[in-house]
Amino acid sequence: MLADGREIRSSVVSSQIALHAVHGGVVPELAARAHLEGLATVVDAALAPVPGGWDAIDAIAVTRGPGLAGCLIVGTMYATGAAIARGLPIVGVSHLAGHVYSAWLADPDLEPPYLALLVSGGHTECVVLREHGVAERLAATRDDAAGEAFDKVARLLGLEYPGGPAIQRVAPSGDPRRFPLPRTRLKGAFSFSGLKTAVRYLVRDLGPAALDENGVPADPQVVADLAASFQVAAVDQLVAGLEVAADRTGATTVAVVGGVAANRALRDAVGARFRGLRVVIPPFDLCTDNAAMIAAAGWQRLRVHGPDAPGFDVDPSLAECA
Ligand code: KG4
Ligand code: ZN
Repeated sequence: MLADGREIRSSVVSSQIALHAVHGGVVPELAARAHLEGLATVVDAALAPVPGGWDAIDAIAVTRGPGLAGCLIVGTMYATGAAIARGLPIVGVSHLAGHVYSAWLADPDLEPPYLALLVSGGHTECVVLREHGVAERLAATRDDAAGEAFDKVARLLGLEYPGGPAIQRVAPSGDPRRFPLPRTRLKGAFSFSGLKTAVRYLVRDLGPAALDENGVPADPQVVADLAASFQVAAVDQLVAGLEVAADRTGATTVAVVGGVAANRALRDAVGARFRGLRVVIPPFDLCTDNAAMIAAAGWQRLRVHGPDAPGFDVDPSLAECA
């Protein structure tokens, strides 16, 4: 729950990591069911510390897309029901805008224009928020998203889901120079499938004797060295792409947002590379998916565009980023 669109009064996240970890990735049907089962409890928990509870709420923001259709439908149906019952305005917000606005939420002095590197499990893009409600996408991935690459490489290495935190955990004990990996540089785009495939071939080329019965490297040092080599290459690609976008736009402020922005190596690399610019990277719990960022983006959307008519459709592939 946000006050005045920018002050976090409460933030409750119900993680589905344990639910999906046993399957090695997100199972859409389970995700939607878990949303249905958990939503009312999460909303009650978010309202519990707010004096007045529902009576203190002026508007409801909900994610309209992009995301898994079943999850988006559960969320919008719940929010629409609550809005109608309480007579409140509702806004359907882009998940991507939520990430872009997580920087605005995290730094009370930040105002557009700013350039955001948005790196999540489903997206890798450079976006300029020109003014509230107006954004331009400068670059996007041609294939895998950065977070997806972390998740897939972790799987190749026998590390748990989600892969980003797992790779970050083992990489510090590895040698990032042991396995040279390619850096894909494309004009106005990102690509992570080549890097992921290169790791796959490295694992294969270790030979059967070096792999355990699941086909993953048996030696923990090899796992750590591969994780470190992958992480440094992935971070290099992201920072290089952000640098091109910053040069092109003459940005003076850059933000890094989305689940992968929780990555320590990426945070450090961006801080070092953009020393002359203002760098905003939200705290970890605003990087990974959360409702506070959706409320912040929703606050601005409501101000700029007004409310949506209840009954609006979800859009699993919504591309809008403001
Ligand atoms: O934004 P997010 O919570 O959900 C999506 O919108 O996709 O991002 C989730 C992604 C996952 O791929 C996860 O592996 C990655 O963010 N991630 C990380 C880290 N924490 C989460 N990647 C690298 N390092 C991390 N510390
Ligand atoms: Zn996200």
